[in-house]
Amino acid sequence: MQKFVITGGAPLHGEVRIAGAKNAVLKMMAAAILTDAPVTLRNVPRISDVAILREVMSDIGFDVRRSNGDALDLHVQEAPWPFVSLEAGAKMRASFILLGPMLARFGRVILPSPGGDRIGRRPVDFHVAAMERMGATIAYRNGYYFASAPSDGLRGAHIEFPTVTVMGTENAMLAATLARGTTVIDNAALEPEVDDLITMLTAMGARIARTAERRIEVEGVDRLGGADHRVLGDRLEAETFAIAAAITRGAVTLQGVNPEHLGAFLEVCDRMGVSYEADAGAATLRVIGTGGASLRAVDVRTDPYPGFATDFQAPLSVLLTQADGVSTIHETIFEDRLDHTRELVKMGARIELLDERRARITGPTALFGAEVGIADLRAGATLILAALTASGTSVISGIEHVDRGYEQIEAKLVALGARINRIEA
Ligand code: EPZ
Repeated sequence: MQKFVITGGAPLHGEVRIAGAKNAVLKMMAAAILTDAPVTLRNVPRISDVAILREVMSDIGFDVRRSNGDALDLHVQEAPWPFVSLEAGAKMRASFILLGPMLARFGRVILPSPGGDRIGRRPVDFHVAAMERMGATIAYRNGYYFASAPSDGLRGAHIEFPTVTVMGTENAMLAATLARGTTVIDNAALEPEVDDLITMLTAMGARIARTAERRIEVEGVDRLGGADHRVLGDRLEAETFAIAAAITRGAVTLQGVNPEHLGAFLEVCDRMGVSYEADAGAATLRVIGTGGASLRAVDVRTDPYPGFATDFQAPLSVLLTQADGVSTIHETIFEDRLDHTRELVKMGARIELLDERRARITGPTALFGAEVGIADLRAGATLILAALTASGTSVISGIEHVDRGYEQIEAKLVALGARINRIEA
């Protein structure tokens, strides 16, 4: 098992290139299933989730290969083995995004129930209901969903999601592009990654548009063409590095991210007194850790985009331990996403869990190095941030979770002056 050894206290300075967005590229790889023409994706991050999905798609029989630099070439012609194993599904919940495109293009697929993970039960009932509205038949047996479309294909439908679901919206969009007739998706997600997927699908010839607040309309077409699409920057990676700059009182310029996608995070920075310069034209965000002046405590509640992202809250909690006063975090999206606070307490943080969705954080508290363990991807980034500001040395286990969503994180941090290395334990 690999671990990170981090000695805290070094202010981070310099530039860091933000990679392509994990929560966009996985769905774009699935979108390539909708056409028999070649598709090229650029700015594809080197993260294990992409490698897992590549393997899953190759096992089905699809041609997916990395080409020069950060590109991925996909060519989906036949689907001899339309099946995803329980093991693959357990490694990566996002494999469920294959449901819509596989039903739309090939009419059948067997997918494992992605099951819950560290942050909650994470059911897929909204996805299944949407596909059934479009005419699919889906049976659940022994941990697998057996899904098939009518012999004459999926049909357009009116889909209204009970609560906002990012991948539910994306599965419905992908399926609707080749369905007979028009599909209306209500209570649709507004995340920038969904918009980037719409841009790619439009380039492939899909008839798809946002026609009202939280409404997407899709007019099915007979076939789609290929695309050459550049994946947008990962706002979640960007937030992690922005907090790294602020918490180590350094100055870091993030390159390759649209600051407009970080609106809710920057609003919290304004309330806390974190200094930054955003330049949407140059796609950069420069974060300057304030010198002596301490940060102001704030109350934060997570909401679907454009609200404060649930993926933002764990890394932010580290910054709140350094703020002057009592802050609260209210996690409204997932029922079990405050587990990282236990590890932060081991490092000296003063955090009280009011219930499974609310935490109260009192600062500023000096953090000290400790042996801590990572439970999920965003919690992993959180513990790295805490170790960067803690006095002394921390040893962090479970770093395979971090590799799922952060490209070469220790190389990027070392380039900014952090003292971090990866050891075989
Ligand atoms: C996406 O997950 C992201 N993952 C998550 O990022 C992100 O936290 C989440 O959206 C934010 O909503 C990817 O895009 C790969 P949801 P997703 O459907 O689509 C409930 C990360 O760290 N729900 O928007 O699976 C669900 O339990 C990951 O990169 C149902 O009840 O999340 C949750 O409470 C973590 N039934 C809420 O909706 C369903 O069928 C929002 O989930 C689907 C969802």
